[in-house]
Amino acid sequence: MSQNFKARHSFLTSVPGTTPGKRAMRMGPLLLAGSRVTARTVAAAIVFLASHATSTLADPAAQVEASKCTACHGIHGEGGPGGVPRLAGQNSDYMNHALSMFKAGTRASAIMQPIARTLSDTQTRQLADYFSDQSAPRVDMAASASPQLVLAGKQLAENGAANVAPCFGCHAAQGKGNGARFPGIAAEPAQFVINRLHEFQARAQGKAPEPGTMTAVAATLDEQQIAASAAYLSQLEP
Ligand code: HEC
Ligand code: HEC
Repeated sequence: MSQNFKARHSFLTSVPGTTPGKRAMRMGPLLLAGSRVTARTVAAAIVFLASHATSTLADPAAQVEASKCTACHGIHGEGGPGGVPRLAGQNSDYMNHALSMFKAGTRASAIMQPIARTLSDTQTRQLADYFSDQSAPRVDMAASASPQLVLAGKQLAENGAANVAPCFGCHAAQGKGNGARFPGIAAEPAQFVINRLHEFQARAQGKAPEPGTMTAVAATLDEQQIAASAAYLSQLEP
């Protein structure tokens, strides 16, 4: 066990009034997301976390796996400004399905496909549950977006336009999401929304989309509407 890990370990176990196991479980992803992670510290952490696991907490294996994700998706799955989606609070079945599509190659992503292929079905389930249980404030406040653009996005989301049904008609009020089929879209980083809508549009060019799907919706959007949706959604409360 490295000095570094020992030092943090003793810090964790010496906090008065906390159960060492519980505390360490919560700190798990934090510990592992540090820049000095090595195979040895990870191995040590697995042993440590496993030996302190209590039945009321999330599976420690899921937390160790999650440390592979937080470098990009944020420590609590809040997402990132460079087109990395928010996972915190997202519907677990939706995320599990997304991961299985990356794995099968049916959802395009040069980044996520190879990552998903390293995960077993049990791990995708655990990770989806883990991030779904997280809560985190939004990132990427679209500070550069004009108030007019944000307002146009709000109108599109709430009332729709001649070419498109209201976003919230499917994604629920304030974009909170509705079950496994309609993901939450509130507080998504703007660049992710733009990229994803472009991806749906590219799909629509391949073959005529089924009516009522997101591919069909995206196909009707113009660039202004995409920019407006992204600006508005990114500054909604999660
Ligand atoms: C190198 C950066 C990176 C890492 C590491 C990473 N992701 Fe991703 N992830 C992305 C990006 C970028 C996207 C958006 C890709 C797209 O839609 O084409 C994404 C998309 C996703 C999505 C789809 C979310 C949605 O709402 O559509 C899920 C779920 C996901 N990642 C889970 C994970 C999990 C679980 C891990 C860890 C095992 C992980 N990611 C590791 C960058 C990363
Ligand atoms: C007719 C119902 C419907 C309407 C209207 C609709 N959506 Fe969707 N949307 C969906 C469905 C279904 C999905 C999931 C598609 C998938 O994962 O393949 C989705 C997915 C998305 C995603 C990807 C989320 C993620 O986490 O990967 C974004 C972003 C999105 N919609 C934005 C919008 C915006 C912006 C509008 C309004 C301009 C809108 N949607 C209107 C049904 C709808």
